Amino acid sequence: MKHPFSSFRKLFPILEHKVQLSSCSQSALSLPVRRAIDDYLEVWQTRGADWGYWMEQVDLARAEFARMIHADAADVAVLGSVSDAASSLASTLRFDADRHDIVTTTLDFPSICHVWLAQAPRGARVRFVPGEAGSSTATERIADAIDARTALVSVSQACYYDGQLVDIAATGRAARRHGAIQFVDAYQSAGAIDIDVRNQDVDVLAAGAQKYLLGIPGIAFLYVRPELAQRLTPTMTGWFGRVNPFAFDPQGLDFAPGAARFNTGTPPMMCASVARASMQLLNEIGIAPIEAYLAQLSDVALEEARRLGLSVASPASPQAKGANTAIRVPNAPQLEARMLEAGYVVSARNDVIRIAPHFYNTAEDVTGALRALARLVL
Ligand SMILES: Cc1ncc(COP(=O)(O)O)c(C=O)c1O
Repeated sequence: MKHPFSSFRKLFPILEHKVQLSSCSQSALSLPVRRAIDDYLEVWQTRGADWGYWMEQVDLARAEFARMIHADAADVAVLGSVSDAASSLASTLRFDADRHDIVTTTLDFPSICHVWLAQAPRGARVRFVPGEAGSSTATERIADAIDARTALVSVSQACYYDGQLVDIAATGRAARRHGAIQFVDAYQSAGAIDIDVRNQDVDVLAAGAQKYLLGIPGIAFLYVRPELAQRLTPTMTGWFGRVNPFAFDPQGLDFAPGAARFNTGTPPMMCASVARASMQLLNEIGIAPIEAYLAQLSDVALEEARRLGLSVASPASPQAKGANTAIRVPNAPQLEARMLEAGYVVSARNDVIRIAPHFYNTAEDVTGALRALARLVL
């Protein structure tokens, strides 16, 4: 199989001696990202403190994320983690007696479920749709669970465990039909799946930079549909959520227009430099061709796993899954370490090893990892 992005491999020095297939956890370090970190340190060392440079990096990162999801930069806030983004959204909601439910699934990332469960003292009740590993019916089951008591629907576009996909346009339509808001956790999809928040009619969407965005933790982007943002007032806030953060008025509380009202304290400036560089690279390549290539790698992974007799936890069809292919194994953390000894960076979760390629990986990377895994478990 031809690798359409082979010329980019030299930007990822680790690929000369390791096969990194852990984009569901931490993707590979690229030279542009390393340069961005060096530049940040150089500015710090030579200029001491440069608010202009820092804010520019945050604005550029915000703009790259907006470009990636086909949004305006004004509709994106910058926070520290996806959990913070969820908490911030939760802080805007009133869980009234007749509309207090949060619908999510047991396969959503636990941290986000914890944020919703923490709203119980404020009147919220979380209703979990049972998740099924390898399922391709989550969309319908989530949509069916939404009713007139639903305040919020929280879906993971691509599941952290088995990569199964949810059709966020369909669940969003169901939410809107019942007057609920939809929160999309795109941490396992942004950078690997082409998201179009306008075409897909997304209310609220969040993603961090560490996984398929080729960056590091410490920063997350929160998209809020502009008409919705104007109606929401977060109680989780800080000076960067003000109309003018530099007004230094301790007694005045205004809320910036658009998504900026969701900003809180000083933004993660160094992480923003990294995310700016990494998303610039992704946007130059284009997420649509990356998504198409990763679907081909899914096909390769599923076929090879079947041939080797490995137990696949992910959906059997490449159309129903993201880039991650999860293989059920005994003692996943130990196997992750043994795979590393064999030259493969993969990621353990619960009872699976996740093989999660990005555009810089080849079909041989994927088949090689599966064969190495088969040698260890079969
Ligand atoms: C789908 C998903 N959502 C949320 C998180 C947690 O994000 P954060 O640590 O930025 O809150 C993760 C982390 O792995 C994840 O995979």
